[in-house]
Amino acid sequence: MFENHSHNFVYSPVARLLHWLILGLVCAQFIIGWTMPDVHRDTLPTGAIAWHLSVGAAIVAVMVIRIFWRVTHVPEPAKLSPMLTFASRATHLLLYIVLLAVPLTGWANASARGWTVRLLGTLPFPGLAQKGSSLGMELGGVHSVLAWVLFTLIALHIAAALFHRLVLRDSVLQRML
Ligand code: HEM
Ligand code: HEM
Repeated sequence: MFENHSHNFVYSPVARLLHWLILGLVCAQFIIGWTMPDVHRDTLPTGAIAWHLSVGAAIVAVMVIRIFWRVTHVPEPAKLSPMLTFASRATHLLLYIVLLAVPLTGWANASARGWTVRLLGTLPFPGLAQKGSSLGMELGGVHSVLAWVLFTLIALHIAAALFHRLVLRDSVLQRML
């Protein structure tokens, strides 16, 4: 009864662009992350690893813009049952948190290894941890685990979008198209 009324609102073109841009960057980042050579103490940040750092820096930059945009342009909530409203809000909030936590732990790990993270291969980011920092080194393991958490959240999110489109047959998916 609630679901059929969410037909007017569409995310702004900027919000939609940022959403789909992050999808592209994050897909590329998972492919690079899972196919690049294993990182050891004496590994140099070249080849696929250099790509992982560059794409990662772009994700950090786009997420900062995206969060700024989201806070200054609050979307109209979809008209859903209280349970679905709670589930979607919780998943979206978790997606934002993990989308920041994954790049930040990777960045701290890169800094601890003495690697400089650069945006588009040029603009250097400041170090997030001191070279050799044991916390920074441990965050590499946290990064790998959190990447799986992000993967699971994205799978859940895509399943929810399809559920809206195919089962509930409401217009939630259209809000982001
Ligand atoms: C959403 C963004 C990101 C995703 C999905 C992602 C994903 C991954 C994945 C899947 C791995 C391999 C883990 C494994 O072999 O078990 C990895 C490793 C790594 N990533 Fe990322 N990453 C992201 C952002 C970043 C950023 C921004 C940086 C640095 C600026 C970074 C630096 C690293 C480093 C240094 C490793 C090696 C960690 C280690 O083996 O100790 N990542 N990442
Ligand atoms: C095929 C892939 C995807 C589809 C079909 C999709 C669809 C959607 C839709 C329809 C919404 C709006 C939901 C609403 O109005 O309540 C949305 C929002 C959102 N999506 Fe996706 N999405 C996809 C991939 C992704 C990925 C890969 C990420 C993260 C890496 C992501 C993160 C988000 C976030 C954080 C929101 C909340 C937006 C806000 O209100 O601030 N999505 N998505």
